[in-house]
Amino acid sequence: MADWTGWRFILTVCVTSVLVVEADIKAHTPVGQLFVFELQRETFQNEFEPFLKHYGRVYNDPMLFKCNMQSFPDLPGWLRFTQRHHYDNGFLYGTPLAQGKSMIEITVTNKRSYDTFRDRLIITIDPPAKRMPYQAEFFIPLREIEKVLPSTVQEEIRQDMMRMWKTDRLDFVNITSALDRGGRVPLPLAGHYEGVYVKVGSDQYFSECLLRLQTAEHRRQCEAGGRAKIPGDCKVCSYPGNCVTWCKSTLIDLSRPVIPPPAPTMGPGILDAGGVYEPPESPPPRDFLPDYIVTVIVPLALAIILCLLLAYIMCCRREGVYRRDGKTPDIQLYHHHTIHGNTSELRSMAGCRGVPPPLSTLSMFNARTGETAPPFQTDSPSIPLILAQQEINTDTLPR
Ligand SMILES: *[C@@H]1O[C@H](CO)[C@@H](O)[C@H](O)[C@H]1NC(C)=O
Repeated sequence: MADWTGWRFILTVCVTSVLVVEADIKAHTPVGQLFVFELQRETFQNEFEPFLKHYGRVYNDPMLFKCNMQSFPDLPGWLRFTQRHHYDNGFLYGTPLAQGKSMIEITVTNKRSYDTFRDRLIITIDPPAKRMPYQAEFFIPLREIEKVLPSTVQEEIRQDMMRMWKTDRLDFVNITSALDRGGRVPLPLAGHYEGVYVKVGSDQYFSECLLRLQTAEHRRQCEAGGRAKIPGDCKVCSYPGNCVTWCKSTLIDLSRPVIPPPAPTMGPGILDAGGVYEPPESPPPRDFLPDYIVTVIVPLALAIILCLLLAYIMCCRREGVYRRDGKTPDIQLYHHHTIHGNTSELRSMAGCRGVPPPLSTLSMFNARTGETAPPFQTDSPSIPLILAQQEINTDTLPR
């Protein structure tokens, strides 16, 4: 029994590895030329529902692609990925600059069923296939990167440029979205596009019309208005969406040897080989005492004097209600003094409360006629409530 489980495990591993090996997609591309790989939703749809097709039922599921270099989180530096929408195909594209192999892991998530599927793309980068010393870059304003990468559109653009260049030995070097080169995301309106930079190369020298991009007149026109007219023989776009912006086109001539930058000139402080470093003499000693006195001692002394002065004014010159002459009252202290005096006066008045209360304080006094109600017995239980309160209040006055 255990044996069978073990065998089954080994068998499963073998079958799985065979499947994985079979599932690898292989691609070749030479150094220095554009590589484009389209991730087609249709292909992966079959992976998700391998049997459904036989029943004549085909889904069109939204899919999300995620690509990364095997056992790395991101793609290699030369490769980019784009997928505009879950219902669009994805594109891996870029220009490799060194030979080698790139293993790309592609993870597809079916956004309807949330199944995932993983595939591997092995890109073998071969040595350069063509010499392309003459290159030119064009800006196509009415395009987006995904709309340019399909091979049919690439071919359209290439045909236009071949007519402009007057050669058929022309290849793509690079295609990049203007967004990757500092462009701005356009408004989400019809007729607004991100723009695409297309770089092509050839071993054929530039045509006459292309050479006009290097003239001083062209530069002046572009600086003045930003718009230069495309010379008649260069205006070849067969489809209006593929027309280039003439002022953003540049020629790159790689055939001339690159002049290495001049070697840095040596300064005087560099030791000869085997020499001994002699440090420069120390500067003469300086006396810092006057500086110390001016910056620390004098301000400190001033601060102490001011402190003492303030302390004297605050503590030793405090006086009572009257100023030092003994006659002029000090306003603030006088105010306090009167409150204090009034309180003690009230207290003394409260001390001799033997006299009967004034008539007006009695409750039944009629102010108009002077009539008085018969006086109450103060200790009678039928004393009205208000009067009782008055009595209580007078009792609780502070004395
Ligand atoms: C292609 O374009 C991208 C983006 O502008 C840039 O990073 C890359 O270096 C270019 N590659 C070549 C070979 O010009």
